[in-house]
Amino acid sequence: MPSPLRLGIAGLGTVGAGVVKIVRQKAALLAERSGQEIVISAVSARSKGKDRGVPLSGYAWEDDPVVLAQRDDVDVFVELMGGHEGPARDATEAALRAGKDVVTANKALLAHHGQALASLAESMGRVIRFEAAVAGGIPIIKALTEGLAGNDIQRVMGVMNGTCNYILTRMEDAGLSYDEAFAEADGLGYLEADPTLDVGGIDAGHKLSLLASIAFGTQVAFDAVELEGIGSISIEDIRQAADMGFRIKLLGVSRLTGRGLEQSMAPCLVPAGSPLGQLAGGTNMVVIEGDQVGQIVMRGAGAGEGPTASAVMGDIMDLARGTRLSTFGKPAEMLRPVTPAKAATPAPYYLRMTLLDKPGALAKVATVLSDAGISINRMRQYDHADDAAPVLIVTHKTTREALDIALAGMAQTGVVTGEPVALRIEEV
Ligand code: NAP
Ligand code: HSE
Repeated sequence: MPSPLRLGIAGLGTVGAGVVKIVRQKAALLAERSGQEIVISAVSARSKGKDRGVPLSGYAWEDDPVVLAQRDDVDVFVELMGGHEGPARDATEAALRAGKDVVTANKALLAHHGQALASLAESMGRVIRFEAAVAGGIPIIKALTEGLAGNDIQRVMGVMNGTCNYILTRMEDAGLSYDEAFAEADGLGYLEADPTLDVGGIDAGHKLSLLASIAFGTQVAFDAVELEGIGSISIEDIRQAADMGFRIKLLGVSRLTGRGLEQSMAPCLVPAGSPLGQLAGGTNMVVIEGDQVGQIVMRGAGAGEGPTASAVMGDIMDLARGTRLSTFGKPAEMLRPVTPAKAATPAPYYLRMTLLDKPGALAKVATVLSDAGISINRMRQYDHADDAAPVLIVTHKTTREALDIALAGMAQTGVVTGEPVALRIEEV
């Protein structure tokens, strides 16, 4: 057997501790499968004395992850700290410059600096792998980069943030408040160190930008992702959508169109009976459509210790087996710069609004929609006790541009109180 593959692991939190456990508990299995023993040389985290639930005494300790990344007894630098600046970026760059391969779970780092890091890795003859960065335990990076490499990809879509899906499903299924569901997700280890990354859609936007780069051969363009979090979704929307046969999901959709690359991460309605509509809890789902393969659906745990460490180990095993691929599926210099396109593919929309309960109010709203060229598919007015009437409208397919014109028109009618909620219904 060749000499061992030596790891330096920076970050011993949920994911890092999970990776240490797998390396310790499955040493024989990993060596048999990869043909190389996998060992840990050194580790780093902020506080040395913290109990991580796994023995660390056999490993050298480094306070500074940059020093860890450059150690002579490290072949692969495993970055599991998080954050797109500071130690994660510094140590990753230092590792590549020192001739180490890198495995990371850090989508923020790659969403912001993916192109530069991929170029640096290639200039040094090194490899960056990041399976755990997108959809936790689902091997979607491998599927897209390798198994689907013979396809022109037509659409990438998915629920890629376990925290948001957990919150939305617990609000619907258990009638929990947003705060209660959020606290449960925290207890399960789903949350980013800064949870606004989760509920603001930013974390999922990072992931979508990485998938889009591989799928469409474009440079990572996180800044061009249209982002909207779940903060504006009320229990009322969840109930009304369910009543009309839909579920609300924080859904990412990316397509390469004649106008440019569409990347949208926003709450959407999907049919309750569809695979995406059935997705519950912290589970993720990624849907890929290719010209040869048709539609592929991958579902699994998107966060948490075991699933994420599983994905990190898959990357380490690839390196042990000698699999060495370009970061985003082709050499960094061949990735095309992105022309961002606002998501404009027509879709039906769900509109919820409150109208003054007086003659002609509904007619005014219908006229505004008609003037914007929007046709109504379904409409409901709910029971109400006071003089404010809750109304739901599902439109036929229209563009976001036409909808924005209609929403601006509604604000001028004098019969709509508050801001209407407008959510896209994605055909899946
Ligand atoms: P975490 O539990 O917060 O752990 C972060 C670890 O990094 C901690 O051990 C912390 O040290 C260490 N760290 C932070 N700053 C450091 C610094 N300046 N120097 C040295 N060590 C430092 O985070 P996590 O959930 O494991 O996530 C790690 C990465 O995996 C992130 O990029 C995250 O986005 C990604 N990820 C997480 C999940 C998940 O389910 N949790 C899923 C997919 C991807 P202390 O422990 O001493 O504070
Ligand atoms: N905070 C992320 C989530 C972890 O909730 O999905 C996995 O990337």
